[in-house]
Parts: sequence; structure tokens; C-alpha cells
Amino acid sequence: MGQGSSVEFADVVRRRRMVRDYDSDRPVPPEVRERLLEHATRAPSAGFSQGWAFLVLESPDERDRFWAATTDGGAPDRWLTRMRRAPLLIVPLSHKAAYLDRYAEPDKGWSDRDERRWPVPYWDVDTGMAALLMLLTAVDEGLGACFFGIPPERVGAFRETFGVPDGYSPVGCVSVGYPGSDDPRSPSLRRGRRKVDDVVHRGRW
Ligand SMILES: Cc1cc2nc3c(=O)[nH]c(=O)nc-3n(C[C@H](O)[C@H](O)[C@H](O)COP(=O)(O)O)c2cc1C
Repeated sequence: MGQGSSVEFADVVRRRRMVRDYDSDRPVPPEVRERLLEHATRAPSAGFSQGWAFLVLESPDERDRFWAATTDGGAPDRWLTRMRRAPLLIVPLSHKAAYLDRYAEPDKGWSDRDERRWPVPYWDVDTGMAALLMLLTAVDEGLGACFFGIPPERVGAFRETFGVPDGYSPVGCVSVGYPGSDDPRSPSLRRGRRKVDDVVHRGRW
């Protein structure tokens, strides 16, 4: 890989931040939407299980139904008012059974499908990696995106609203669009970014 492309990639990584306000008048171009999804499917996955799915919500009605299912229905706060302006929502869902099935195949041999073999839920890990590729692709395309959670008590309503089968769990939601002009910095950022030397242990802890 040439020097040029790696510098450009570093720039995308550095520029990425969660965008929580969008220009509601500018839809995401269809080819960009498809690139986000195509890149998501380039994510690595344990055993190449690819136990993920992506629910794309784009029309005003689809998005309204997402927000109705996942929020409490009261007056929208500042966060929700801005986030509702996002013209595209993509919900990445993880599919645990795809991993248990894949690892029960002869080359892996875990035919007992015992979940204790999985100290880390790779189905969620891999789906999270796919979400990160979407976040980075959005930056690369000049758009903004935000990964945010669906409150646990709302997941049932979300599932019912969109006919999501039981075996699929939303790991969160990615909002996408052109950034709006009213996007205050998250108070969480006051924590500051941890320094590499504070988090890296070289050779031993
Ligand atoms: C797993 C996960 C869940 C998050 N949930 C939310 C959320 O529910 N609402 C939100 O506004 N931001 C959410 N964020 C964004 C974080 O607040 C953000 O990544 C962090 O403050 C660092 O800011 P930056 O991503 O802009 O660098 C989430 C991020 C991750 C990785």
C-alpha cells in the first residue's frame, strides 16, 4: 500500500467523531448508502460466520416508527430533536445462532453448541466492527454518523415494529447524514482522550 493512501486513512480515523445533528434537507446519496452497507460486510468475523444483519430505515415513516419505538414518546429533548434530523438510520443486528451453527461444523468441531465456549460474544464484536466500518466510511464520504444505543426496555417494541426475528439483537443504531450546524461537543469529551502510554502495556503489564 502506498504512503498516500495510508495518510488518507489516518486522516479519516482522526476526523471521525460522533455527529449528533444533521441537515434534514440533504438525503444520503443512494450510492453512499450502498457503500456504507458494502463496507459493513467487509468486516472480519469469527470463522467467517458473518452473523449480522442491517436494518435500513430511510423514509420519514420508517424513521418515525424507529423513534416512536425506541424513545418514551414525551417531548423530544435536545439530543433527540437533532438526532431525528438524520435522513438515514442503519441498525446493525447480531445473530448468535449463526456462530453456534458455524462452529458446530466439522472444521471447528464445537458440535455441542455450548455457549460457555464463547467467553466473549463474537457475534456482537463482529457486528460492532461492521458498525465501525460504517462510521469510517461516512467520514470518508464527507458525511457524519453516530453510533448510539437502543434502551433495553425498548428493544421489544423495536423488534415488533420492524418484524425482527427473535434470534437477531440490535447492537445499537448508526445515524447517518450531512452534519448539521447545531452539534455541541459531547460533555463526555471533557474526560479527554487517554494517552497511548496510559493504556498500552508493552511486553508485560
Ligand atoms: C458502544 C457505544 C455506545 C454509544 N452510545 C451512545 C448513545 O447512546 N448516545 C450518544 O449520543 N452517543 C453514544 N456513543 C458515542 C460516544 O459517546 C462517543 O463515541 C464518545 O463520547 C467519544 O466521542 P467521539 O466518538 O465523537 O470521538 C456510543 C459509542 C459507543 C462506542
